[in-house]
Amino acid sequence: MIIAIDGPAAAGKGTLARRLARHFGLAVLDTGLLYRAVGLKVVRQGDDPSDAAAAAAAAQGLGPGDLEVSDLRGEAVAAAASKVAAIPAVRAALLDFQKNFADHPPGSAKGAVLDGRDIGTVVCPDADAKIFITASVEVRARRRLKELRDRGLEAIPSRVLHDMKERDARDAQRHLAPLEPAVDAFVCDTSDRDADAVFAAALEFIRSRNISG
Ligand code: DC
Repeated sequence: MIIAIDGPAAAGKGTLARRLARHFGLAVLDTGLLYRAVGLKVVRQGDDPSDAAAAAAAAQGLGPGDLEVSDLRGEAVAAAASKVAAIPAVRAALLDFQKNFADHPPGSAKGAVLDGRDIGTVVCPDADAKIFITASVEVRARRRLKELRDRGLEAIPSRVLHDMKERDARDAQRHLAPLEPAVDAFVCDTSDRDADAVFAAALEFIRSRNISG
């Protein structure tokens, strides 16, 4: 069983992915972390994340240790991730790992949930269920602001909103694997729904697809 979850930043993909994984006994992969690890590696080397050669080399040399770095979740890393993600050689280098995770999930998992931007369209076009989670940019920026402050980080509301709009535009307008719902995706707007309501709606969709046994 493979579940693909896509959507913009702070829409609630990660929360839904983890809950579905727990419910169905599936492995979970946050594919954004792969792009974040590449972005951080490039920046730490002193290179520009839009430099195709540097970013491709970082993606090709990515190892498990790169995913265990503590500060992958920050906003500066997110911006770098979104820049390296527009480079075709970076996407190509990360594709096999993601496909392999879906086809051969680790441990005894009987399937996988992957979340990202192009899971239903590119990584797992044959996924059993595709869910596109979205919310207004204002709601998402408010959620991100709270997350940052809960982690004790300084954050300016107008800056968070601005950065989120910029990242949305970059992710949706790139030529290769842009952020967009697959034609057969269930589109769920979470602007006015809490995590429980989103989980319930996703479960109902999955059951309607007759794949959950
Ligand atoms: O999900 P996230 O916010 O951690 O992702 C960080 C960036 O990585 C996002 O702005 C675009 C890129 N990304 C991507 O292009 N494709 C994916 N499947 C996942 C993330």
